[in-house]
Amino acid sequence: MTGPVTHTAKATAHIRSGMCCLVKGQVAFAGSGPGDPDLLTVKVARALQEAEVILFDRLVSAEILALAGKQALLEDVGKEGFGPSMSQTEICARMVAHAQAGKKVLRLKSGDPTIFGRLDEELTACEEAGVTYQIMPGITAASAAVAGIGQSLTQRGRNSSVRFLTGHDMKGFADQDWTALARPGEVAAIYMGKKSARFVQGRLIMHGALRSTPVTLVENASRPNQRILETTLDRLPTDLAEAGFDGPALTFLGLAPRQSMAALTDLNMELA
Ligand SMILES: C[S@@+](CC[C@H](N)C(=O)[O-])C[C@H]1O[C@@H](n2cnc3c(N)ncnc32)[C@H](O)[C@@H]1O
Repeated sequence: MTGPVTHTAKATAHIRSGMCCLVKGQVAFAGSGPGDPDLLTVKVARALQEAEVILFDRLVSAEILALAGKQALLEDVGKEGFGPSMSQTEICARMVAHAQAGKKVLRLKSGDPTIFGRLDEELTACEEAGVTYQIMPGITAASAAVAGIGQSLTQRGRNSSVRFLTGHDMKGFADQDWTALARPGEVAAIYMGKKSARFVQGRLIMHGALRSTPVTLVENASRPNQRILETTLDRLPTDLAEAGFDGPALTFLGLAPRQSMAALTDLNMELA
């Protein structure tokens, strides 16, 4: 019988020396954070400087792409608005082809690549093609958005766990453990939750959630055009329609902006 598997921590000398760790013929999956370039990790900023090919998603901000080295070939694989976005199969094929051509490939995703980033499909494509890879974390939208409302994702006495949900999955609106989510004090960060707002509201109320449950949406978290919508479960679809959010938005179930925020900022939209 074999013993427990242990892995030693990776040496971080390359960070101290200012060198990056991109390797020719390898793919680095990296998180670009929520948009503010100051929220990029030092490691990903260095990878941007060093990459020879950067395949980036739609929500990666222009300010972050501007940090790419001059040698980098930038490929937008998340186009929307000019026709259908590139298929996952094609993204995987391009990424693998660049790696097999011996390039230092950076696959740049918004936020953290491990959260609603379709990372596994791309890891599998690398594995099947015999291409090695590494993963560089980033700050996820929920972390930036909760900072934007002066709140904490967990709080002693309120919630000892927090859920990250998607509003929709490949089959349509995503089903969740509505009974658990409907309990007072629950906190959830809902990604891609704008279109599913009415569905989520209906399911939660059906499972006993209070209509007065606080709900807050943060659009363009961490960006100069960040907007905050403070509402309740009862008014969520109405207020959201009225607010006319057209940027990426994170929905918090069970959280309102911190009280003192209203006095500190004029971003707070009181529509309720
Ligand atoms: C495909 S998911 C990618 C999530 C990303 N991997 C992350 O960790 O943040 C896209 C969704 O993330 C959320 N999102 C991403 N960037 C955001 C931002 N700056 N502000 C608010 N929500 C954001 C939105 O809900 C958006 O529809």
